[in-house]
Amino acid sequence: MNKKIIVTGGCGFIGSHTAVELQNKGYDVVLIDDLSNAYENTINRVFMITGIRPIFEKIDLKDEKETQHCFHKHRDAIGVIHFAAYKAVGESKTDPIKYYENNFKGLIHVLKAMQSNSISNIIFSSSATVYGLPEKLPIQEDLPTQRPFSPYGNTKKVGEEILEDVVKCGWLKAISLRYFNPIGAHESGNIGELPQGTPNNLMPYITQTAVGKLDQLQVFGDDYETKDGTAVRDYIHVVDLALAHVKALDYLLNNEDQTNLEIFNLGTGKGYTVMEVIKTFERVSGQELNYEIVERRDGDVPSLFANGDKASKILGWEVKRNLDDMIQDSWKWEQNNRNNN
Ligand code: WQD
Repeated sequence: MNKKIIVTGGCGFIGSHTAVELQNKGYDVVLIDDLSNAYENTINRVFMITGIRPIFEKIDLKDEKETQHCFHKHRDAIGVIHFAAYKAVGESKTDPIKYYENNFKGLIHVLKAMQSNSISNIIFSSSATVYGLPEKLPIQEDLPTQRPFSPYGNTKKVGEEILEDVVKCGWLKAISLRYFNPIGAHESGNIGELPQGTPNNLMPYITQTAVGKLDQLQVFGDDYETKDGTAVRDYIHVVDLALAHVKALDYLLNNEDQTNLEIFNLGTGKGYTVMEVIKTFERVSGQELNYEIVERRDGDVPSLFANGDKASKILGWEVKRNLDDMIQDSWKWEQNNRNNN
């Protein structure tokens, strides 16, 4: 049976880990990436882990012609996992047009190319940011979405709405996966997160401070109503997240009569404060971390964690990796990849 899957943004952090798990499950993987925030060498690293070299297509999805051509070439694909998007929250506020242009053009061109080539299954990479400032915790999928605090977040919310409308037309089946805070790396240390420039997210900031690339971590706020005053997030290991994509794909391919966009939260259901993450890092790595407490960061919510029951019940997905595993693997990746990509 043909098991070809197109993975857009396939050289990125979550895309590359998903490519590995798809190959482990016997899928043939075509990675599309414009390499704007990723490295082609990721293909070699996927090969080092799985022994299988994925097909690679360097395509800018903003270019409709190129996208159509590439999808036509791979029109035997049975599904698409769409990761390709810009994702820096801060940059999206200073340059919203760049984010709306890239993330919407990418999604629309992918959908048009799927329609022209009769590819009818898509998994969309979404984010817990679509819940805005949630009124209830833990967050269940039926909690109404809110206007996200950033243009980046809004591209995820509107992306889901676009998919909802297209699914109603009958030719497309779609699942949206709302990620909480993905961290960690492949346990081999071969693939992981490679932020360009100074990282915005907590985990790469911590590991880069620990190896001396950055001087000091700033902890954004210690006056939230949480157990130690620092903000709470639901951190999820990127390999568990990647495995959820494989489960979601299996479900989508076997579910012939889907009529609505299906949405799943991907988190562990456990929240940790920033200070708990720092203390766990210090214990796991044996490194003391240089940090200071500063003002809250604009747009941060105090607490965010998932109720992940739907994904475990319907997809049969289980979280297997805990915070120690996540930090251990992030740390191993940082140490392995200090000077190269
Ligand atoms: C986590 C916690 C910070 C950096 C963002 C996006 C979301 C998703 C994941 C995907 C917060 C604190 C952070 C630092 C700190 N995006 N922090 N010092 O903001 O929960 O979610 O990433 O592509 O859509 O919004 O993640 O890792 O930035 O922050 O104290 O230097 O760590 O305040 O409480 P966030 P994060």
